[in-house]
Amino acid sequence: MKRAFFLVGIIFAMNALGTVPGMYHEGWVDFNKNGVKDIYEDPAQPVEKRVADLIAQMSLEEKIGQLHQTTWDVGAEKIYKDQIERGDMGSLLGGGEIIESPIHRNALQRFAVEGTRLGIPMIFGHDSIHGFRTIFPIPLAQACAWEPELFERTQRISARETAAGGNDWTFAPMVDLGRDPRWGRIAEGFGEDPWLGCLYAAANVRGFQGTNVAAPDRVVACMKHFVGYGAAEGGRDYNTTEISEYTLRNFYLPQFKAGLDAGAWTFMSSFNCLSGFPASADRHTLNEILRGEWKFRGFVVSDYLAVAQLMEHGVAANGDEAARLAITAGVDMEMVSSNYETLPQQIQDGKVPADVVDEAVRRILQVKFVKGLFDRPYTDETLYQGAYLKPDAVALAREAAAKSCVLLKNEKNALPISKAAKKIALIGPLGDAAGEMLGCWASRGRAQDAVSLAAGIRAKLAPGSKLTITQGCNITNATAEISRAVAEAKRADVVILALGEPRDWTGESKSRTKLGLPGRQLELFHAVAATGKPVIVVLFNGRPLSIPDLTTNATAILEAWHLGVQAGNGVADVLFGDTYPAGRLTISFPYDVGQVPIYYNHLNTGRPGIGEYKGNYVDAPITPLYPFGYGLTYTTFQYGPVRLDSPTVTPGGTVTARVQLKNTGARAGTEVVQLYIRDIAASAGPRPVRELKGFQKVRLNPGESREVAFSLSTHDLGYYDTAGRWLVEPGKFQLWLSKDSAAGEPVDFELISGQ
Ligand code: NOJ
Repeated sequence: MKRAFFLVGIIFAMNALGTVPGMYHEGWVDFNKNGVKDIYEDPAQPVEKRVADLIAQMSLEEKIGQLHQTTWDVGAEKIYKDQIERGDMGSLLGGGEIIESPIHRNALQRFAVEGTRLGIPMIFGHDSIHGFRTIFPIPLAQACAWEPELFERTQRISARETAAGGNDWTFAPMVDLGRDPRWGRIAEGFGEDPWLGCLYAAANVRGFQGTNVAAPDRVVACMKHFVGYGAAEGGRDYNTTEISEYTLRNFYLPQFKAGLDAGAWTFMSSFNCLSGFPASADRHTLNEILRGEWKFRGFVVSDYLAVAQLMEHGVAANGDEAARLAITAGVDMEMVSSNYETLPQQIQDGKVPADVVDEAVRRILQVKFVKGLFDRPYTDETLYQGAYLKPDAVALAREAAAKSCVLLKNEKNALPISKAAKKIALIGPLGDAAGEMLGCWASRGRAQDAVSLAAGIRAKLAPGSKLTITQGCNITNATAEISRAVAEAKRADVVILALGEPRDWTGESKSRTKLGLPGRQLELFHAVAATGKPVIVVLFNGRPLSIPDLTTNATAILEAWHLGVQAGNGVADVLFGDTYPAGRLTISFPYDVGQVPIYYNHLNTGRPGIGEYKGNYVDAPITPLYPFGYGLTYTTFQYGPVRLDSPTVTPGGTVTARVQLKNTGARAGTEVVQLYIRDIAASAGPRPVRELKGFQKVRLNPGESREVAFSLSTHDLGYYDTAGRWLVEPGKFQLWLSKDSAAGEPVDFELISGQ
């Protein structure tokens, strides 16, 4: 009954939009306008049959059109009408200033559906990385909540808003492993751990696609960037990557596979040259691994101009070669550049087999059918108003913002701040900077929707309390009013310094060579700290920073990242103790940029440890400033000894590890108990000194104690060899249950063959 209403509504909306008489029928659309319900037009037919029927009716030129995506903006109706009606476009990518209503999209779609022979709808893509209008914390921050289920919920709202705006497809999640904070796109990923990255990748896909991606409030997910993009040399975006097959299999690929297993329908090939050949024409990863080993059934889109860039990379002499290399490697859709236009001639000349194009078209059409575009090509134009920043979205953005914060330091119980504090001095360039809170890739997010830290604090203050706001210095350049800031600090009971990076210093093409605070912020910090007042630093940034001076001299440090529209409220909730900090770093913070790349799950050297000829630095520690997994709370936790139910396990069995956890402080708090393992000797290659394999968030009241138990299957003890085989090998292992990747003592167990 409900479904019937829905269908009638859609048909009504389509008739209102439509201009071709007799095209729209109840329950089906006569896309080829022949007055007959063809198989591909019949929603009751299985997708494979519909795809086959449609392909059989297509000319080669129509097929090539399906492989082409271009970008659009407001007013594109005039520019693209002819091109779309010629059948030259299968997809549009919306960036720039696209307004949030689907009206323009529908106008463009109408050209495709009504103005072309076969009426094949276009698929509209958009970059909603962490929200559409309701901007949530950057993905790196959300990973620090150690709550994939929360990410699924935020990405579910992101899908709802993105779809209401007229988009069918989103270019996320970005699952590139990030080991180099110089790389600006580290903000878009989940950090340095592949195991946690897999959980987040899958959660994102579920959040976008749900159980029925055809639903009008769902979008198709896109796993990007395939593959290795995050390993750019020097942290410089787009740069060359050299990744051994062993490292690729064990660190860079698993997140993609997890997204695929969660049902992701599309992949994006990456910009980088991967171990000697550009990834966007790399047969090994695209054809052999993705299609051959993993049996991926959806389609691959290139990154922006990446097919044309095969010429810049120096593997194609011209557009023909670029097209040939990319399509035969498995890139089905070309984003923005149009080298695939050369394919008809190349097919005629026998340079490209015709079935390569048929296969690419088949994959793209399949996703269009699965998304329901042949049953519902237009977006309902009555829904978008009121679709954004709904109360549930805003409440979730606040929850996510608070949960993403990581407390790095808290001396003298500086935090939480008493609401009765009489004079609070908020100092620093990011204290009253609502727009900066949105972070990179903020889609349709607006500064006026965002809550600054100043606004968040103001909302907490008791009557009679006073908040002063002093910028102190500009975020990045030399402008400063440091003496005024110092004067305000001297008059205050509580000093909060809001420091960090501008949002446009992270994201695509935003690499850095230094990882300290930009501009004169450190000078501002030292001047304020010299007053002797306890200084609470709140950091807003999109990458790990090297901040040893703050670690030494600040009283408290709260890592708040770029937290989205509810940043100020979420941070204030934590600062004033309405929510307790529960985040943990998912990426290491270096002392100095010279330590980069520094990550917890590294291999051992043949000379581990500290001392001469051990591979130490002469001028810095080899450990990070803050390790992976690190984060404090407003209380303290005590770990008892780790106990195993058995010191041995046989294949298919379970290792059960237990620890008694006690809240030894005066407040409630949430501990993230982390399970790490180490495989002592592995035949196909050494294993990391520690690998995360489990975690539990445990909330305890003061004095409360609880046993925390983990079950680890022997499957979790495995790793990939260079051929992609998952090996679970008998032998000795170590296991930690600890508060971070640098803490705790291991216990030993052995996987015995059982024969
Ligand atoms: C280039 C970026 O690398 C990619 O992540 C994004 O999805 C596309 N541009 C489209 O905007």
